[in-house]
Amino acid sequence: MALKLSLLAMHLFLLLASTSKAHASVFDVTSATYGAKPGSNVSKALAKAWSDACALPSASKVVVPSGTYKLKEATFRGSCKAPIEMQVQGTLHAPADASQLTRPDTWVDFQYIDMLTLSGGGTFDGQGALAWSQNDCHKNKNCNLFPLICASNSSPIPKFRT
Ligand SMILES: *[C@@H]1O[C@H](CO)[C@@H](O)[C@H](O)[C@H]1NC(C)=O
Repeated sequence: MALKLSLLAMHLFLLLASTSKAHASVFDVTSATYGAKPGSNVSKALAKAWSDACALPSASKVVVPSGTYKLKEATFRGSCKAPIEMQVQGTLHAPADASQLTRPDTWVDFQYIDMLTLSGGGTFDGQGALAWSQNDCHKNKNCNLFPLICASNSSPIPKFRT
């Protein structure tokens, strides 16, 4: 009986451990695998880190460390195999020229993602030059982040943590 109980406790412990955020696998865009450098263009590194994290069958976290990075318009598409977190500690700058975006109302788009968390206390900087007021997210009930950043067909609406 005592053994059974301790096995149960062990199972509970493992279950808690495996669902804890602290155990999410980290995909750091500045790691050697992805090669982003502060001050440079993070578009490719972030796209690659996202697709690797999204394909992982267990919880993952894409990390943009502190620093300033350029980010061209980006679409992060699901569905992912497990909960995914994007932790932005740095600042992501949109192109200063809105004509570089194919959709003037969308800079970063999270699509078809369940259980997304955005965290890190960083900044998505739309650079002012972009037409913030043109965002049409209000027409889409699943799209209620802030201007230029959409979460379409994602559920639930992404959580924000700082
Ligand atoms: C950043 O990288 C993306 C993808 O490689 C490219 O399309 C874009 O033009 C680059 N932007 C700048 C400002 O270099």
